[in-house]
Amino acid sequence: AAIEKDGYDHFMLKEIFEQPHTIFDCLRGRLDVNAGTITMAGVQNHIDQIKNANRILIIACGTSWHAGLVAEYVFEELCRIPVEVEYASEFRYRNPIVNKGDVIIAISQSGETADTLVALESAKEKGATIFGVVNVVGSSIARISHAGAYTHAGPEIGVASTKAFTAQLAVLTMIALKVGHEKGTIDETRYRKLLKELEEVPEKVSAALKLNDHIKALAEKYKDARDFLFLGRGYNFPIALEGALKLKEISYIHAEGYPAAEMKHGPIALVDETLPVVFVATKDSYHEKIVSNIQEIKARKGKVLAVISENDEIIEKMADDVMIVPFADELVAPLISVIPLQLLAYYIGIAKGCDVDKPRNLAKSVTVE
Ligand code: G6P
Repeated sequence: AAIEKDGYDHFMLKEIFEQPHTIFDCLRGRLDVNAGTITMAGVQNHIDQIKNANRILIIACGTSWHAGLVAEYVFEELCRIPVEVEYASEFRYRNPIVNKGDVIIAISQSGETADTLVALESAKEKGATIFGVVNVVGSSIARISHAGAYTHAGPEIGVASTKAFTAQLAVLTMIALKVGHEKGTIDETRYRKLLKELEEVPEKVSAALKLNDHIKALAEKYKDARDFLFLGRGYNFPIALEGALKLKEISYIHAEGYPAAEMKHGPIALVDETLPVVFVATKDSYHEKIVSNIQEIKARKGKVLAVISENDEIIEKMADDVMIVPFADELVAPLISVIPLQLLAYYIGIAKGCDVDKPRNLAKSVTVE
C-alpha cells in the first residue's frame, strides 16, 4: 500500500508523532523489564566481541552521526570501553588505524549512504568486526555487517530524520546495557533501573508531543531570527547539535550547536538581544553547570528558550520561554529532549513557507561520495 500522511500535513510531522509507537516497536520483544533481560537476535552471538573490544569506533553521517555521539557517552559510561565517533567521509580518506580487537558500529537509517558504506568496506578489509544499526531491512550496510540490529522505525519519508534517530538511540542504549551488564560494568540496581527507564520512554515521548501547540506559537515568535545557537552538556550535547541541524535543514535559518561550556570560546561573541539560544537543559548531573551558562547568555541579553524537566523553577524563571518535558534518567533523556526540537524546526519551517518534507539541495539518502 502507498505510504500515506494519515491526515498530517507533512510526512515530517507524521513521523514526529509516530515516535511513541516506533520506539515501542523498537523495544518490543527485546526489552523484558520483569525478567531483567535484553534479547537482540542479531547481536546475541557477537556480544563477547563488543565486551572484549579495546575500542569501539562508531561510523556514520548526519543525524545518524549525532546518535553515535550520544552512544559514545552511553557506551563509555555503561561498558567502560573507549569510543570514537567518526564522520564516515573523514574516516575513510585518512588511512585510518583499525586494530585487531576494535569493533565498528555503523549507524545508518537508509543503509545506503555511500561514504558510510565505503568506510565500512575498507575497515572490513582490515579485519574489523562490523555491527550495523540500520533502519532499512536488507540495505547495503545491513548486508555487509557481520552482525547488527534493525531499528524497526518503519519507512521514513521526510528528508530530515526524526523517528529513525530516536530508534537508533533506543537500539544503541539496549546494546550498551546488554554489554555492560554481561561485562559487569553496571551494577544490578542501575541496570534494572535503566531497563525500566527505557520502557517508560514511549509514554514520556507522548507527553512531550503535547507541546505541539505551544511550540507552534514559539515558532511564530522566533521565526525571523537570523541565527540560532543550540547548547547542551553531557548526554544532551549531541541533542543540541541535532536541534541545530534540524533547524537549518528545515527552515534554512543558520544554526549552530555547541557544548554549553565551550560557547565562551567563540559563539558567545554573537550573543545580543536578537539571538535566540536554545538550551537543552533537562535535570541531570550537569544541571548546576548549565544554569550558570544560561546566566552568561542572559547577562548578554540573549533570548533563552530552554527544554527543561518538570518542576525546574530555577530555569523557568531565567528563560524567556520553556518547553517542559517529563523527567527521565540522563542516560535516556536524549530520546525525550529531542522531541521539542524536532517540532520547533518543523513549525519554524512551516512559518517560513519552506518545503519541510523535501528541503532544497538535500537528499534522503546520499548515495554519492
Ligand atoms: C542525509 C539525510 C539525513 C541523514 C544522513 C545520513 O543527509 O538527509 O537525514 O541523517 O543522510 O543518512 P543515513 O541513511 O546513513 O542515516
